[in-house]
Amino acid sequence: MRIVIAGGHGKIALLLESLLAERGDQAVGLVRNPAHVADVLKAGAEAVVCDLEAASAGDVAVLLAGADAVVFAAGAGAGSGAPRKDSVDRAAAVLMADAAERAGVRRFVQVSSMGAGQPPRPGSDEVWAAYITAKTAAEDDLRSRDLDWIILRPGGLTDTPPTGKIRLAAPPVPGGTVPRADVAAVIAALLDDPRTRQQTLELVGGDRPVAAAVRRIS
Ligand SMILES: NC(=O)c1ccc[n+]([C@@H]2O[C@H](COP(=O)([O-])OP(=O)(O)OC[C@H]3O[C@@H](n4cnc5c(N)ncnc54)[C@H](OP(=O)(O)O)[C@@H]3O)[C@@H](O)[C@H]2O)c1
Repeated sequence: MRIVIAGGHGKIALLLESLLAERGDQAVGLVRNPAHVADVLKAGAEAVVCDLEAASAGDVAVLLAGADAVVFAAGAGAGSGAPRKDSVDRAAAVLMADAAERAGVRRFVQVSSMGAGQPPRPGSDEVWAAYITAKTAAEDDLRSRDLDWIILRPGGLTDTPPTGKIRLAAPPVPGGTVPRADVAAVIAALLDDPRTRQQTLELVGGDRPVAAAVRRIS
């Protein structure tokens, strides 16, 4: 499979690229900073420089030609303000979905976040509220499209080693944390199972092996 990953130098993306390379899939990481190309190559993926806040859907559709799947793993990240939550977490996700439709790439995995799908709680911090609003809008956009989409909402991300054991289910799943490495493993397993589509899934650490958890929802 050829899989294009938006936010190709993100922490989840680099872990996913390594997993895909190990099993013989071809990942392509889209990065906005040319200095990040070397890390993506080291992870076993191709790298393409593309700023998703500057590119058009037509530009990105060209990059998706011949791909089997798209993963949206970009994010404005900690330290960014409300405007970039909108321009990355919402608008770049919409751009990727638009480009996937234009390029005829049906399979689309969107990394969202637990908390999305509902209005931010009253009294929430302004940037958190903008983040949740952006993630919710990106999800709503993807659900409206004729694509084989999966929306994956991880809980709080950690950089601890993978446990290989998760809880993956339709919302609501009680809040929790999950290692980024386990999120990457779940995405790799979802991409491998074409029966998993048109589902919104929440993900935290749990007691079910990744492969079994993905089989259970497929
Ligand atoms: N933190 C949490 O606890 C948590 C919980 C649930 C879900 N999530 C979501 O999980 C996803 C992945 O998380 P992560 O920790 O792997 O993310 P990350 O390490 O912050 O990576 C995000 C990537 O997006 C890239 N990006 C930002 N703006 C871009 C643009 N205009 N064009 C192209 N790429 C751009 C960043 O590139 P630069 O380095 O160039 O900025 C970065 O490589 C994010 O969507 C995040 O919101 C996070």
